[in-house]
Amino acid sequence: MANAIKPELKIVPDSDALYHAGADEFVQCAQDAIKRSRRFCVALSGGNTPRGVHLVLAANAKASLPWNQIYIFFGDERHVPPGDPESNYRMANETLLSRVPIPDENVFRVPAELDAEVAARQYEDQLRTFFRLSPGAWPRFDLIFLGLGDDGHTASLFPHSAALNETTRLVVANWVDKLHSYRVTFTYPVLNRAAEIAFLVSGASKSQILRDVLKPTGDASYPAQRVRPLDGRLLWILDRPAAKLL
Ligand code: 6PG
Repeated sequence: MANAIKPELKIVPDSDALYHAGADEFVQCAQDAIKRSRRFCVALSGGNTPRGVHLVLAANAKASLPWNQIYIFFGDERHVPPGDPESNYRMANETLLSRVPIPDENVFRVPAELDAEVAARQYEDQLRTFFRLSPGAWPRFDLIFLGLGDDGHTASLFPHSAALNETTRLVVANWVDKLHSYRVTFTYPVLNRAAEIAFLVSGASKSQILRDVLKPTGDASYPAQRVRPLDGRLLWILDRPAAKLL
């Protein structure tokens, strides 16, 4: 029986308000984590929606957060080099990392220029080392941002892809048929051990998939529906156009 966690919905008027709400969530989680454990471990999402969140964060929290105590990871990455326009790292670097005083060694980029399986294994090793994991243990991120694709994917957990069934690896190379390419992605065991998951969903084009994903039916037919923190907060930050069918 999947743990029946009740998602929290934060609905804001428009995309700009969503960017500010996402940035505020980052700041609040960072302050709480740093007070609790003197560090904040966060995984960023890819795609377009996070761009606005990052820009607001860089503008508003550049001086107020202790960036040397913040550790940035990526919940997934495209199988491209870091300078590629498709790279989630490149997007994060342009919109946030190059704009705040975060030490290079605090940013853990997926080495997606390598063979996908090699990149996944190396990233998995980086997680194990950083979180000092013993065999069989899992990392616990303070916050993981996620997006929602119009097919119900999240991170790079796409419908009908092999990674949906992964229960032992932390990070895998996942072949995505519809994209004819590999992605590197966190697996559900990592996502579901986060202290907080924050989905960022913006725009009317996501209203139908969002309604379907948030429908309280039993079958988790969409990958995003299987994100259920075992012991953590599940927050959906939505703008009104995205939430119009809820
Ligand atoms: C990626 C993301 C992916 C994204 C969704 C939503 O690498 O593309 O991790 O899961 O979050 O596709 O993307 P948008 O925010 O651009 O709609």
